[in-house]
Formats: sequence, C-alpha cells, structure tokens
Amino acid sequence: MQTRVEIADFENWRRAAKEAAKELDAGGIVAVPTETVYGLAADAFNAEAVAKVFEAKERPTFDPLIVHLSRFGELDRVAEVPEEIAEVVREIATKFWPGPLTMVLPKTAAVPDIVTSGLSTVAVRISKHEVIRTIAKELGRPLAAPSANRFGRVSPTSASAVLSELEGRIPLIIDGGACSAGLESTIITIEQGEKRPLIRILRPGPVTKEELREFGRVVKAKRDRSQPEAPGTLDSHYAPSIPLLLFEKPEDFVPEEGKKYALLSYRGATRDGYVDRHEWAKIEILSPGNGKLAEAAVRFFYALRAVDIEEIDAIVAEPVSDVGIGTAIMDRLRRASAVRS
Ligand code: TXA
Ligand code: MG
Repeated sequence: MQTRVEIADFENWRRAAKEAAKELDAGGIVAVPTETVYGLAADAFNAEAVAKVFEAKERPTFDPLIVHLSRFGELDRVAEVPEEIAEVVREIATKFWPGPLTMVLPKTAAVPDIVTSGLSTVAVRISKHEVIRTIAKELGRPLAAPSANRFGRVSPTSASAVLSELEGRIPLIIDGGACSAGLESTIITIEQGEKRPLIRILRPGPVTKEELREFGRVVKAKRDRSQPEAPGTLDSHYAPSIPLLLFEKPEDFVPEEGKKYALLSYRGATRDGYVDRHEWAKIEILSPGNGKLAEAAVRFFYALRAVDIEEIDAIVAEPVSDVGIGTAIMDRLRRASAVRS
C-alpha cells in the first residue's frame, strides 16, 4: 500500500478534511492531527473500519480506543451520562473541551464493542485541532482514534513521525503540522463522591490535576499492574527501540565501557549535573535556558525520536519536576524506562 500525505495548511485544510472524510466514509483509516499527538482514525460506528486500526497498529484488542466528537452536542450519541454526574460533566466539558481531556463514561449501544474492547464505558474527547473536528463533522459520525504509532512505541507528534511508524500500512495521512500540546490527553473518570465529585486520573496529561481540582476531589487511579484501569497504560508503553535510563541523581549514572549514550536533557544546563557528566554521543534539550515544562512537553516525543537512533546504545533521561504537566512528562519517562532498566 502506498501512503499518501495531504498537507492541511492554511489554504488547503478544508479540502484535505474532505478527502479524509471521504476515505473514512468508505470504511478506510486515516492518520489525523490533534493538538496532543496524531491519531489513527476510523468511523467509530463502523466495526470493520475500526478493526483496520487495530491491525495497522498491531494493537491488542483488549486496549480500547478514544472516540473523538466534533462538538459537545454529539456526546449523547456515544455516552449515557448518569444523572448524578451530568452537571459536573457539563462543567468540565465547558472548561476543557475542545481540548486535551478525555472522559470515560458509560457507552451507548451505538458504539461497537470493538471500540471499547467490550467494556461498558467509552473514552470520549473533543480535540482542539480544527482539522480533526472538521473531518468528524464532514463524516457526520464520531471518530475512533488511538495514537498513530505502532503499539507500545513512541507517539507521533508530526506527520513525518506518523510516516515512520505506519508508512505502507495506511492509505492517507493528513499533515496538520506539529502538535501544539505534545503529550496524549489526560484521561479521567468521574463519580458522584461524598461531598464533591470524585475525579480519578487514569492517565496524566496536558490538563493537570491542579486544574481539575476546581471540579472535585482529584485522585490518581490505583495502579494494579496486572489490570490497570486504562487498559492501555501498560508499564512498557512509549518505549524507544533502545533502552532509556532514568536516574534519580546524575551520580547514579555509571557508563559502561565502550557504549554510546545520548542525553535527553531538560534545560541543557550544566548546573543540573548531567551535561558535563559524560561525553554524550548526542544531546537533545527539551526546553533550553530556564526550562519551561510546557515547552518540554511539546518537544518530548520529538526529542525522544531524535535520540532513538542506531548509533546510540542507550538514552539517559533527566527527570523534570513532578508538578503541572511535568507529572505527565515523568509518567511517560517512567513508562519508557520501565521495560529494560
Ligand atoms: O491525546 C490522545 O488521547 C490521543 C489523541 C489521538 O486523541 N489518543 C490516544 O489514544 O492517546 P491511545 O489509544 O494511545 O490511548 C488511549 C488510552 C489507552 O490507554 C486506553 O486503554 C484508554 O485510553 N481507554 C480507552 N477507552 C477506555 C475506557 N473505556 N476505559 C478506560 N480506559 C480507556
Ligand atoms: Mg497511544
């Protein structure tokens, strides 16, 4: 299969969105931009099309997909919001949609089981990226779209990253430029709670726990390694093809003789103790200078790809502070390092 890339720039994006909708309407799959990472989309109501997403990604069918709407009014097509949380769901949607937040809600019968891996709930979001919203609107149906990487690999934040993951496996990529948030959406569940609604974070992301506190008591989902609440949040996720090493202190890094190491640095600052620690074969800096977590998030997957190259034996990653969106960066770093370190 040849993979075509349509540029959805200022002049062409409406036409590109139409092309994508046409492909999706015919039961095809298309990689589309969102503000977080690129998604691999299918018509959410077409089980056969959704099966192609699992196949192209080599994704196990126990790992459900996120459904993307074009607007809030479509929510009741995919979710039955329980009365007792209806108000808080509306408040949260008003504040964060369109945006990088996914809510897990009881699903309607219209959503095929393959989308939710047989769960009775569906993960829903409305992306800030106008191109994916327009595609869903043109199609007239929601889109089921997981990140457009092969299963367990690094999420793509540009069309070229999608190509390197899925070239030859999918017919079309809509190139909407680099992703503006850079990390996958925050995933939450919402319960009634005793005094205030209870918001559980299944996956930390660009919408932070600090921001969610306005709407209820926020807790981190319990980590049951054999069965995480978000089935896809396995420890082995986001893995580069070479080992990634995460140390608490720079002194903990002891290079092995003859091995080549790359540094994934937060600020590139010598005061952090990593830059001067070793003769790095390559250094990628997430946010040069004073270090801004939001910038580090945007560049994170891009930088991880840039050091994930053949000449390197292992990547050493500097930790960032575990606050705000830093929590989401640390989550990805821990998972990326969990496999082999
Ligand atoms: O930003 C994002 O969320 C991107 C863009 C493309 O929207 N999508 C994304 O999808 O990250 P994916 O498939 O890579 O991650 C979705 C996560 C998985 O961990 C999956 O297990 C979880 O959402 N999930 C999906 N449906 C769920 C459900 N009903 N209950 C709990 N977790 C669910
Ligand atoms: Mg993913």
